[in-house]
Amino acid sequence: MAIINRVAGMKDEIAAWRRDIHENPELLYEVHRTAGIVQEKLKAFGCDEVVPGIGKTGVVGVIKGRKAGSGKVIGLRADMDALPIQEITGLPYASKTPGKMHACGHDGHTAMLLGAAKYLCETRNFDGTAVVIFQPAEEGGAGGKAMVDDGMMDRWGVQEVYGMHNNPGMPVDQFAIRPGPMLAASDRFDVFIEGLGSHAAKPHLGNDPVTIGCQLHQALQSIVARNVNPVDSAVVSLTMFHAGDAMNVIPQTAKLCGTVRTLTAPVRDLVERRMHEICEGMARMHDAKVELKYARGYPVTVNHEAQTKFAANIARLVVGDRNVDDDVLPVLGGEDFSYMLEARPGAFIFIGNGDTAGVHHPAYDFNDDAIPVGCSYWARLVETAMPAS
Ligand code: NI
Repeated sequence: MAIINRVAGMKDEIAAWRRDIHENPELLYEVHRTAGIVQEKLKAFGCDEVVPGIGKTGVVGVIKGRKAGSGKVIGLRADMDALPIQEITGLPYASKTPGKMHACGHDGHTAMLLGAAKYLCETRNFDGTAVVIFQPAEEGGAGGKAMVDDGMMDRWGVQEVYGMHNNPGMPVDQFAIRPGPMLAASDRFDVFIEGLGSHAAKPHLGNDPVTIGCQLHQALQSIVARNVNPVDSAVVSLTMFHAGDAMNVIPQTAKLCGTVRTLTAPVRDLVERRMHEICEGMARMHDAKVELKYARGYPVTVNHEAQTKFAANIARLVVGDRNVDDDVLPVLGGEDFSYMLEARPGAFIFIGNGDTAGVHHPAYDFNDDAIPVGCSYWARLVETAMPAS
């Protein structure tokens, strides 16, 4: 293993930052305390520029190497927001805010990038410029898009951008990555069914939206089973079905909601089109109103070929050849780093979190043993992409 010694020596300090952030989780764009800490630390480390308020509550730090003007500009990104989940870990540093917790490890991502920033500010063993990007609202608020829309890439001349996410179930000293689609496009659908309410004992006088909703659920499953090419991937999950208030009443309306995950634009288009056709057909078949609202969310997270190869090589430098999977299967989760990869070439990598609860689980905790690994990856990435002359 080639963990950087200086970084390994900072592990406890970085873990303390991480636990403090864990104890004080904040949602979406409301990451005021966290962004404040990030800003304060980046200034204390000696960043050449620290700019808050990018994409509402995002923070950007600029670290110039020895010959800043002669080299490249590389962006490194971490996310800062937590989730609306009640923590059950019972840890001494568990969330102090009921109903909110860092259940996706963004506390760890923020702390690791801060650790790398401290190291890079101290050593400056590179030419060019490292831009450290701390974004809000990864969990459904498109904070990454907000930062890109705020002109971050152009303002600092970012040429390539890299992201990292912890991966429970994978040993802490391992990385996984792949070129092309790494995470899915994540869309939301809402279906509103209006039939005709009636007495439960007189169904012939009504038009039952529950029956229509059940048939719709079955029909929607046929999209993945019978329309999508079996070698492609897609998920259509109906996750909410609300109807009725009384045992002896057929309700007037039903509301359904769910998510669609796809790995390519053509499959995404296909699923959306088929959903509309099925809802229209279902409405005609039952002579009812079936209204579909399809909202496109995060796009596919597509890793660029050259940057993925480069990132995998950096990972190998840190943890050795055998501990890097450079052809991992994609995950159908969504990730708004996708917007940054649409703006600039780059790559998103998974870092092992060990044998912990999964992300978004109330018993999840980021593994502090991953800190020296993640920080070393960031530091080596900058030093290798922009070597000091
Ligand atoms: Ni996450």
